[in-house]
Amino acid sequence: MLKETLINATEAGAKVLQYYFNNKELKISNKEGVNNLVTEADHASEKAILDTIKETFPDHFILSEEAGEIAMDSEYKWIIDPIDGTVNYAHGIPLCCVSIVIEHKVNMLMGAVYNPFIREFYLAEKGKGATLNGEPISVSDEEDVLKACLVTGFPYTYINQPNGPLEAFGRFIRKGIPVRRLGSAAMDLCWVAAGRFDGFYEHKLQAWDSAAGFLIVEEAGGTVTDFKGNYYSPYQPNIAASNGKIHAEMLKFVNDQL
Ligand code: IPD
Ligand code: CA
Ligand code: CA
Repeated sequence: MLKETLINATEAGAKVLQYYFNNKELKISNKEGVNNLVTEADHASEKAILDTIKETFPDHFILSEEAGEIAMDSEYKWIIDPIDGTVNYAHGIPLCCVSIVIEHKVNMLMGAVYNPFIREFYLAEKGKGATLNGEPISVSDEEDVLKACLVTGFPYTYINQPNGPLEAFGRFIRKGIPVRRLGSAAMDLCWVAAGRFDGFYEHKLQAWDSAAGFLIVEEAGGTVTDFKGNYYSPYQPNIAASNGKIHAEMLKFVNDQL
């Protein structure tokens, strides 16, 4: 029932994304930060997702980006990003998705990320592997960070601190390492899981951006940590995800330890 509801909720959100996509009348407003957007599609997707979950599991705890927390005394918590990649979405760029994970007693149990525009549905279950459209996926084999293809993201507000995102980015670029920037952390993580990227790092994410992708990368055989190399918690900001083989070297670039 959990898995079925997860899939149904993800598909319900994605249907809303398709409905509003490229609609010139789409209502867009700002959250904090000039370009931190929220659209009526974010709210409508969230409603479709929450309605689907509540129908079957009205007692479960919910943490959703726009609605916030719906606190319940439950072992199960649904962490929801109704659109990851809202800026892309608002510009008609089809690099965006619905991202949902079910946390059970602090562990990520099942996660789904769905981009309906490129028809990619990623699903992972703790201990049971990760799939893309039903087919098993695994991370890449690249062992040399200097030959890796990486991806990162930047927060909406500039982080004015020593060794921030721009400094880390610069160190990779100076070595000629390709670092892409898709604008959706959930897609970034899924593309690491699918072996397209060898690694991903980002400085300031929220649990709803990363928690589903985190499980999907781990279940595809990858490694996910914070910047110190410690076990990853989606409730702290920094994430490093990779095929495992380049992980330590990638962290040296991020941490200015070359
Ligand atoms: C954003 C995306 C982006 C990341 C931002 C996130 P949103 O989520 O994941 O890739 O760089 O930090 O906030 O706002 O589109 O849900
Ligand atoms: Ca997000
Ligand atoms: Ca979002």
